Amino acid sequence: MTYTNLFNFTNKTVLITGGGGSIGSEIAKAFVECGANVAVSDIDIKKAEHVSKTLSDMGIIVPFEVDVTKVASIEKLVDDVVSRFKRIDILVNHAGLNIRKPAVEFTEKDWDTVINTNLKGIFFMAQKVGKVMIKQKKGKIINTASVSAVRGHPNLAIYAASKGGVQQLTKVLANEWAKFNINVNAIGPGYTMTGQTMKFLSNQKTFKSILDKIPMGRLGTPEDMAKAVLFLASEASDYITGHTLFVEGGRLID
Ligand SMILES: NC(=O)c1ccc[n+]([C@@H]2O[C@H](COP(=O)([O-])OP(=O)(O)OC[C@H]3O[C@@H](n4cnc5c(N)ncnc54)[C@H](O)[C@@H]3O)[C@@H](O)[C@H]2O)c1
Repeated sequence: MTYTNLFNFTNKTVLITGGGGSIGSEIAKAFVECGANVAVSDIDIKKAEHVSKTLSDMGIIVPFEVDVTKVASIEKLVDDVVSRFKRIDILVNHAGLNIRKPAVEFTEKDWDTVINTNLKGIFFMAQKVGKVMIKQKKGKIINTASVSAVRGHPNLAIYAASKGGVQQLTKVLANEWAKFNINVNAIGPGYTMTGQTMKFLSNQKTFKSILDKIPMGRLGTPEDMAKAVLFLASEASDYITGHTLFVEGGRLID
């Protein structure tokens, strides 16, 4: 084999959820730049359309609307993407959100919002795309977990539970679908300045206390996350499955 073309995704179809967001749009850019056909989906179709328009000079990228909390919406998305591109080689299962509160203040609605987006959405997206990949006998699924999957940071009870669930789900799906030549892995981003975290990180005291715990001395960037996703989507990681690759500047070392 040759190694020089490992990140060439020509003729591959990539479906990204949450692709209108800060990290998701960078992942879309990375794949278009590497030659893939990209289906960029988001609950906010205007964001997906904007990403698609911005990147359309670089290659084929088509916007789709989806609400990952609704199985019917997931089914429509996957059917539409298959009818447009005939196959799905890579799923970047990335849509997610966070509600930050002391545990005693969370409501049932908060629970449903976070769990339905971050955990139910990830599962049913993987299930529906998994059925396509099982027929193809090939595929790569990359779920988005978080450092919060393995740490008990305050005010993140529901988010941490959802992301811990994603990490565990990743292992089970990897185990069940290895025989179909489907790799299921996750990335676990550390703090990254995005739409989701901007308000929280704009507090200078909080910002400094977070940086103090990161050996590499900086936050993650959307580019850091996109590079890890490319690795897990590429042939470079063909013998890796069930893992969560933490992209966190060493935050979890001690
Ligand atoms: N930013 C960080 O520090 C950080 C750290 C760890 C993990 N993550 C994870 O990375 C992912 C992306 O987050 P981000 O920081 O780029 O935030 P973001 O808010 O910029 O992006 C999230 C995107 O998901 C979309 N989305 C939300 N609910 C949806 C739904 N029901 N259906 C479809 N799309 C939906 C949003 O419209 C948005 O475009 C999330 O899963 C998040 O939990 C982020």
